[in-house]
Order: sequence, then structure tokens, then C-alpha cells
Amino acid sequence: MAFPKGFVWGGASAAYQIEGAAAEDGRAPSIWDVFCEQPGRILDGQSGAVACDHYHRAPEDVALMQRCGYKGYRFSTAWPRILPEGFGRVNEKGLDFYDRLVDDLLAHGIEPYLTLYHWDLPALLQQRGGWLNPDSPQWFAEYAAVVARRLGDRVKHFFTFNEPQCFIGNCYVNTDHAPGLAYPQRDVLQMMHHVLLGHGLAVQALRATVPGAGVGFVPTGSANYPVAETPENIEAARSAFFAVHDNWAWSIGAWCDPVLLGSYPPAFVERFGSEMPAHWQDDLKTICQPLDFLGLNCYNGHPVESDGAGGYRFSPRKVGYDRTAVKWPITPKALYWGPRFLYERYKKPIYISENGLSCADVISLDGKVHDPNRIDFLHRYLLELKRAAGDGVDVRGYFHWCVTDNFEWNRGYAERFGMIYCDFETQQRILKDSAYWFAEVARTNGENL
Ligand code: FCB
Repeated sequence: MAFPKGFVWGGASAAYQIEGAAAEDGRAPSIWDVFCEQPGRILDGQSGAVACDHYHRAPEDVALMQRCGYKGYRFSTAWPRILPEGFGRVNEKGLDFYDRLVDDLLAHGIEPYLTLYHWDLPALLQQRGGWLNPDSPQWFAEYAAVVARRLGDRVKHFFTFNEPQCFIGNCYVNTDHAPGLAYPQRDVLQMMHHVLLGHGLAVQALRATVPGAGVGFVPTGSANYPVAETPENIEAARSAFFAVHDNWAWSIGAWCDPVLLGSYPPAFVERFGSEMPAHWQDDLKTICQPLDFLGLNCYNGHPVESDGAGGYRFSPRKVGYDRTAVKWPITPKALYWGPRFLYERYKKPIYISENGLSCADVISLDGKVHDPNRIDFLHRYLLELKRAAGDGVDVRGYFHWCVTDNFEWNRGYAERFGMIYCDFETQQRILKDSAYWFAEVARTNGENL
């Protein structure tokens, strides 16, 4: 059991959650700026207007990343910083920021992994209907090309969309995330199709601009795993993993099949065919572009067992099961079965593009931040990932969510996911115990686990 040579140990973040400087240097509002102003949307009425002030503190943060042992950093560019109107006029100052960031990362021996879309749609595009607008795939491809032209001489790894399950499901089915507008199912299916098409066009734009670029896509979902590892339970867990279930917008298969296999799952078409956009078949070729890798954001899964008749059922979690501070279950096996199922079905190298947990981290009397629960969680999960690598799953890297504590969407600043503590009043950063631990894991390429 070993991680492959060259395995990328890193951290991940997203623009709106860390940057702040919301109205600086020509950045226009995103749907999140608008959403945060609406009473009752965000815990304690918070917003990402300042967040970790990373826009002004990037050099300090990059230096801290190096101390965490990172060899890679997955960050997102803010669309409304780069194209304030969503398309057309380019804001060079916005690009300058990422230009400096990328240079700084490379100077510290940290490889940039750039996500184009981590949920901050320019507000002006939402006013034009957002993902419901038939032009939205083109808007996204234009944005991809602008980013690639400026940064593609140094950035060689791109992800198009982060967790379409969430930014469609959480935003337009339920309304917990921006813009918080519920739409009828027919419209949501249309948005989904536009996002998929936007992905395909963006991949084309990236390839045209950056020859040799590595490009991927980042799904998430419940990484279901067999309750006991018998062939029947494994099959059952696999079915549950890719199933088109009632919460279809969160399905992994419904999003990944079109992107990687060139078709919506048959069960999806059977169920929603009559409500899917006209001529959807015509776009599949564009949607299914050759990809170099998949990202998987993997936090937990559900144990699954065979129902004895070729189907599956969810096994009950044990009474008082282990939970993180945000009450997500602790299920290390998700980091074995998640990448394995994904690799077996789509045959693409896998990066764990996010994994981590929130803890009730505090600064102790000794001035340090002790987070034994994070170390234990990461240790258990990474052992499972190592097992997957040992069993032949082509895993290329692991990006811890997150680098610094940050703005956790509608939960405001209540959840601390960082490996680096952030005091949001003073902007002081403190490496948590887990950061020193992780640096050692990275140094030994996981041999010490
Ligand atoms: C993921 C998001 C990320 C962060 C973590 C905790 O779903 O991609 O931005 O909120 O959860």
C-alpha cells in the first residue's frame, strides 16, 4: 500500500469564501453578494465581503501553505472580478490578482489547480436568467478563454465546475444557497443541461488556448460504501452511488455520465425525458469532451447493503455515530469506495479535490490551536485513500478542504474547516496542529500513515 510517486498533497479554497475585497479593483457583485444582503439568508447576517481578506494577504497565505507541506493549491477564480458584466469587458486588475497569486505559488514550489466556477455567478448574469439563459454555456466558455489566455502559460491544471450538484440543487431546488430561487423541475433540467454544455464548451476553449492543459470536472455526492465488503454489497453500494434518486440534482451519475460517457443515464431519461430541453441529444457530443482527470469532493457516505434481490438499501447508521462539528457523519470508507467506484466507471485519474471537516477549534491558553479530531479524521480517511491507491485506483492527489477557516456559505463563520486558524477580527492566522501533522504526511508521501 503506497501513494504513487508525484502524488500531489495540497489544500483547496474558493474565491468567495476567502478573498473579501468584494468591491475592490473593479470586481462586480456576484449572486452571493446579493444573497448575503437578504435578511435571514446567512447565519448571523454575515457575508464574504471581507472573509479572510485573502485578496490582500495572498503572499502571507502562500507562505503558510508551504509550511503545511502543500505541493498543490486548488483555488477558484472569481468570474465577477474578471468579467464584471459576465461577458465582454475584461477587468485586467482582477486578472492581475490571479497573475500574482500564480507566480507566487510557483515561486514556492506549489502547483496551481484552477477551478473556474465555485458558485459566484456575476449578479448581472443572474438578472439575465442565469443558467436558464440559452446563452449561459457561451458566457462560461468566454470566461474560460479569458482566464486561460492570461494564466495558461503557467497554470496547467483546470477544473471547470465545482459541485454542480450543489450549485443547482441547493440554489434552485431548495433555496439554501444563492440566488435562493426555487424553479419548476423543467427549468432546473434546462439549467443542468446548460451547465453541462457550458462545461463542454469551456473544455474546448481551454484546449484551444492552452495546449497540453489537464482539464477535469468536480462532482460531489454521497460516497456510498458497502456495509460489509461482500460482492453483493459492493454491487449494491455501486448502484446506490450512481443512482438517479428522488433528489436527482444531487446524483453523481446524472452529472458525470453525460460528461464522461456522452449520455444521460437511461433511468434519468426514462424519468425526466418528457421535461428535458428540446433536442438535448444534439448537445451530447459537445458535452462529452475528452477529460484528463476527475476531481471528487468527498466528505462522507452512507453504508449500503444488498436487498437480496439485485437492488440496494441503505443500512442504518449505528446509534450515536461519529459526527463532525457540522454534524456530518465520519465515514472514512468513503475515501476508498468513492474514488474506486468513480475510477471503475469512468476510467479517469482521480484527484480528491476536497475532503476535510469542521471542528470546534479554539486558540488554547498556550496560544496554539489543538485539533486532534482533525488529525484523527484525516488519518483514517487517508489510510482508506492509500488502500485505494494500493488496489490500483489511479489517485493523483489530495486537496484538503480548506487552507484557512473561511466563510462557509449560509453557515457564515460558524464552521471552521481550515488547517490554518483564522481570527476574522484581526485576520491573524495560526497553523493548527493538523497543519504540522499534514506537512509530515506530505513530506513522507503518506509513508508515515
Ligand atoms: C463543499 C464546497 C466547499 C465547502 C465545503 C465544506 O461542498 O465545495 O465550498 O463549503 O463543502
